[in-house]
Amino acid sequence: MRSTSSRYGTGAQVFHWLTVVLVLTTYVLSKGDHYSLYSAAADGLRRIHETLGVLVFIVVALRLLWGLINDTTTKRTMPRWMAATAKLVQFALYALLISIPATAVLGTWLEGIPLTLLGFDIAPQIAQMQGLGQLIMKIHTTLANTILWVAGAHAAAALFHHFYLRDGVFQSMIPGR
Ligand code: HEM
Repeated sequence: MRSTSSRYGTGAQVFHWLTVVLVLTTYVLSKGDHYSLYSAAADGLRRIHETLGVLVFIVVALRLLWGLINDTTTKRTMPRWMAATAKLVQFALYALLISIPATAVLGTWLEGIPLTLLGFDIAPQIAQMQGLGQLIMKIHTTLANTILWVAGAHAAAALFHHFYLRDGVFQSMIPGR
């Protein structure tokens, strides 16, 4: 379950790949209809999108807690610029994974719309401010598009390690190797 100095443990790997699957599915569902997610025609999609999006937040929170009891940082020798860039990208990914669901919940409630979780509606817990809510939902969309680019760069770097540097960084996150 636990990470070692050269590879991530099952716990860190499960959190990592679960996050990848959840974010991609949530993203695809947000685009899976020609209507706005708020339209009656897209109601089912919106409900699944919101439920999976909140799940992303829960999984990331659990992953951070898991990191506190199990240091997930593998120790490898690499140039300082490379280690610093990897840390920066990792930080950006965590910041996006937290701010994307957070802006969505805040924006939805400010717009006066209930949040749907597993079929249950949770009424807005804050006062309605339509204009601000719409602005925050625009920020939500921009952040969600940004994470695809940052995660894409992160995945490209992993492939660079695997095929060019051949240093085991890629394998350290692959189960059963
Ligand atoms: C990692 C999690 C999430 C990702 C990747 C994501 C992604 C996106 C994207 C890309 C859009 C824009 C779709 C378009 O182009 O029209 C969008 C819209 C939306 N998202 Fe999310 N989302 C996430 C979490 C959530 C959560 C937790 C909620 C719960 C409130 C939510 C509610 C919405 C709503 C209501 C819209 C429509 C906004 C509008 O039409 O103005 N999302 N999301």
